[in-house]
Amino acid sequence: MTAQIINGKAIADNLLQDIKTRVETRIKSGKRAPCLAVILVGADPASAIYVRNKRLACEKVGIRSIAHDLPVETTETELLQLIDTLNADSGIDGILVQSPLPKHINEEHLVERISANKDVDGFHPYNIGRLAVRQPTLRSCTPYGVIKMLKTTGIELMGMDAVVVGVSNHVGRPMALELLLAGCTVTSCHRHTRDLADKIRHADLIVAAAGKPGLIQGDWIKPGAIVVDIGINRLPDGKITGDVEFDVAKERADYITPVPGGVGPMTVATLMENTLLALELSETK
Ligand code: GUN
Repeated sequence: MTAQIINGKAIADNLLQDIKTRVETRIKSGKRAPCLAVILVGADPASAIYVRNKRLACEKVGIRSIAHDLPVETTETELLQLIDTLNADSGIDGILVQSPLPKHINEEHLVERISANKDVDGFHPYNIGRLAVRQPTLRSCTPYGVIKMLKTTGIELMGMDAVVVGVSNHVGRPMALELLLAGCTVTSCHRHTRDLADKIRHADLIVAAAGKPGLIQGDWIKPGAIVVDIGINRLPDGKITGDVEFDVAKERADYITPVPGGVGPMTVATLMENTLLALELSETK
């Protein structure tokens, strides 16, 4: 049986429509629109595309976006000062620093400087900690987007044996915490994992977030499993591919996400939702 392909783009579009309605309702009742500050340092072409997509999504749902496109030689001190200014500005609800950053800038310093209540990427240690203690507030966009996508598809996560491949601070680790919160038994795999194939073979749900094209071989997938591919890898011919050997995996899995058109759009939609949530939370204080 061929897997059902999860259409992340369609699910994200529905989510964006809901957010648009919520923003319109705010405006009609005399409240202001949410506002997201997007900081892009340098001219990495992939980052420029991601940032453009985020700004377009803002436009679509009625969120104001303020662009800070800075030259590659911008210093860490200058960026920290900009973050301080944005933190102090009550008209800004969310602050996003697009990664990767130039080598001379320590990304963790910036992430920790952003006020936790404006951290719409959900990367701040406070927000990761909230998720770890089962009190999520602003949740990391990609992992939370995956959970929303699976729930919308009608997949019951409770009790599943889930394997997350990749343990990055921004994706793999919060993904494992999200799945734990959803009631899965979670295994995190990484470069020191002894037998990745064996872990995958026993998994009901595989979430691939290693950033290595084709790392997960299709014939490792347990028949009937669910496969979520977060990898976005550019091949030498310019094609975008995930971490999973899609053509073989789709013949074994029950559900699988494509790359592109799977998790990527969910990340952007969740960012929009977080920006609205950040404003709503600031109004309840
Ligand atoms: N670079 C790639 N993905 C992301 C993301 O979700 N947020 C930020 N800030 N940078 C990224």
